[in-house]
Amino acid sequence: MAISRGPTGLSRKDSSQEADFTLSSRVGQIGGDSDPLFALQAIGTRSSKCTNLNSAQTNDCAALTSPPESILIASSMSYSPLTPLDGRVAIVTGGARGIGLETARALKENGAKIVIVDINTEAGEKAAKDLDVNFVHADLTQSDAVRKLASNVKSTHGRIDIAFNNAGIAVNIPSEECSDDDWHKVININLNAVFYCCREFGKVMLEQGKGSIINTASMSGIISNTPQPQAAYNASKAGLIMLTKSLAGEWAKRGVRVNSISPGYIGTEMTKLGMTNPEWHADWLKFTPMGRVGETREVATAVVYLASDASSYFTGSNLVIDGGYTCW
Ligand SMILES: NC(=O)c1ccc[n+]([C@@H]2O[C@H](COP(=O)([O-])OP(=O)(O)OC[C@H]3O[C@@H](n4cnc5c(N)ncnc54)[C@H](O)[C@@H]3O)[C@@H](O)[C@H]2O)c1
Repeated sequence: MAISRGPTGLSRKDSSQEADFTLSSRVGQIGGDSDPLFALQAIGTRSSKCTNLNSAQTNDCAALTSPPESILIASSMSYSPLTPLDGRVAIVTGGARGIGLETARALKENGAKIVIVDINTEAGEKAAKDLDVNFVHADLTQSDAVRKLASNVKSTHGRIDIAFNNAGIAVNIPSEECSDDDWHKVININLNAVFYCCREFGKVMLEQGKGSIINTASMSGIISNTPQPQAAYNASKAGLIMLTKSLAGEWAKRGVRVNSISPGYIGTEMTKLGMTNPEWHADWLKFTPMGRVGETREVATAVVYLASDASSYFTGSNLVIDGGYTCW
């Protein structure tokens, strides 16, 4: 029995067999097999009542044998509160400050166990102390370091449920002056390191048969910013959006979801320079329909959503959080 999506919803592709449809819904244990599963089960075989019919009867029969409308909305899940992250182990890279730090706080408040990873030991240790979470120093551009990190987190905490691959840098250099080193520096952390993280954390999740990876891309992966030049950054983030989609397709059937977020201008150390440059800042606000930069908490909430089972049908998505910048 094959089910295909037509203009009016689900329909049966193969009419050689008749089937009854029932909806089964199951909610498992948090931290284990916990997705609400909505399984469409085709049961039974062609019955004599659907053969040799006139056209009205054929329509009735089609209604009987098509999935009921309720299949598209039925659920036994409670919506209040939305699924918590109790006991889930979350790695937050670049968690020493900015978007990573605020997201570590948000994931923790929703019940996750947090491991902050950063190249900045001083800021990372302070962040971990303030939040009462774990900190691991690592330069994520070193694939060996990422492999060890995955193995350490697994041996210490037993699993990896959530990976927020967020560490990144921006450089603003006119392209004709951008050296090989400048280019590689950006691509190494913004794209290569995220691939290492996805691969190593993803392996653990694939073994578990469950996990949620969220990569921090940027609106710069969709549009080219103005007025500041940042070709390497934009290219790295565009690559990251496609890496996310590629992994999502590969791993979807094995329980691992991979999504990206694309923030617009958010107030952090990374954007401080631009916000103190009157020409840049004026353009940033002019091209942002909401007329303001975003706050880190406005990104953190999106990550909590993508980390949780509330987003169980999201994979390969790129959630844009930009005050409307990419509308114009
Ligand atoms: N702030 C924005 O407006 C904005 C917009 C879109 C996307 N982003 C992205 O969000 C992410 C976080 O940015 P932010 O604004 O919080 O910046 P931030 O500079 O405050 O934080 C980045 C963190 O990444 C860490 N890091 C850098 N290189 C590393 C490495 N090799 N290994 C381990 N850690 C490393 C830094 O030490 C720092 O703590 C970045 O990927 C950035 O590109 C930011």
